[in-house]
Amino acid sequence: MSPAAVSNKPLQVAVVGLGRLGRRHAENLATSVPGANLCAVCSPVNTELEWARDQLRVPHLYHEYAALLAHPGLDAVFLVTPTSLHADQIIAALKAGKHVFCEKPLSLELADCQRVTEEAARHPELKVMIGFVRRFDASYQDAYQKIQEGMIGTPFMVYSQTCDENDPDGFFVKFSPTSGGIFLDCSVHDIDLARWLLGKAQPVRVFSSGLTAIHHDLQQFKDVDNGVAICEFDNGRLATFYASRTMAHGHDTMTEITGTAGRLTVGGNPRKNRVMIADAQGIRNECTLSFFDRFEDAFLAEVRHFVDAVRHRKPLALDLDDSTQATRIGIALRESLLTKQPVLF
Ligand SMILES: NC(=O)c1ccc[n+]([C@@H]2O[C@H](COP(=O)([O-])OP(=O)(O)OC[C@H]3O[C@@H](n4cnc5c(N)ncnc54)[C@H](O)[C@@H]3O)[C@@H](O)[C@H]2O)c1
Repeated sequence: MSPAAVSNKPLQVAVVGLGRLGRRHAENLATSVPGANLCAVCSPVNTELEWARDQLRVPHLYHEYAALLAHPGLDAVFLVTPTSLHADQIIAALKAGKHVFCEKPLSLELADCQRVTEEAARHPELKVMIGFVRRFDASYQDAYQKIQEGMIGTPFMVYSQTCDENDPDGFFVKFSPTSGGIFLDCSVHDIDLARWLLGKAQPVRVFSSGLTAIHHDLQQFKDVDNGVAICEFDNGRLATFYASRTMAHGHDTMTEITGTAGRLTVGGNPRKNRVMIADAQGIRNECTLSFFDRFEDAFLAEVRHFVDAVRHRKPLALDLDDSTQATRIGIALRESLLTKQPVLF
């Protein structure tokens, strides 16, 4: 098939997993991504499939992933499933000749990242991208460009945090065994940002610590609801990370990049909008409530980027090595939390 023929026909895509985030990707693909046609969805849960059929008019519904991969004419899958399933599902899709977008993180184990990388190398004609959504956020993009232009000189330090509003129901407690814990689930975003903003920095040594401030049930999974970490990179560069599940005020993601000639801060005030309230309590903004409220535009931009790259055979913004490195550092932070020792690379 010629490249022109590829670019002219809509990409036939399927979403696998229709939970918290899968529904959002499905909505975007059904309504707002030029060149994509959401032809099928897959979930073991009937109500999730019915939602896709009734709300998005998706014509083909699958309980079984293997059956979905055999769907005639399917070009690409969007995996929005529990992280523990990612590696095997990516490999199965590649073997079936499908392009793959998969949610972060790539996996919970380094050996899985290696297996995925090896399988992807056997299919150079297929695209594989892990969804590090913050790279597609307009403010992070702007900061990245300013660093490239030399605005802050040589960047040498990143502070980055991912702090969620406290969920009294503790969704993430049940989620903990398949999410890999707070560093692989939350800080993996900050790790990827630090490597990107510092210029593909390579880790040298990490140390982490944490506590359970509210959700003591996490201890049964050796997880914490507040974690901090230091990551030393090569060439004397440094990053510190903070992740929390217990913020009282809302979702508070921010990143600070310090260089020899200045500093950039993204999201220093996690305000919901530009309305400032002045009353007897003082002067304040309301806070963004969830990660999706904060990164709604970026989730759409990353999916558009992936579809465009597949249809027009363009390079992807990040590769499997970036995703493997982020997992590698996340695993080391988990290990340091458990052993209370630094981990050397
Ligand atoms: N980029 C981000 O900021 C971000 C935010 C939230 C979640 N995520 C990632 O998205 C993924 C899903 O997270 P979530 O919060 O939507 O989880 P969720 O538990 O709400 O949804 C998981 C979905 O997978 C389905 N599922 C389970 N087993 C399946 C199988 N074998 N085949 C097909 N579907 C199956 C479930 O029915 C459910 O619909 C995770 O990897 C998570 O790390 C990323």
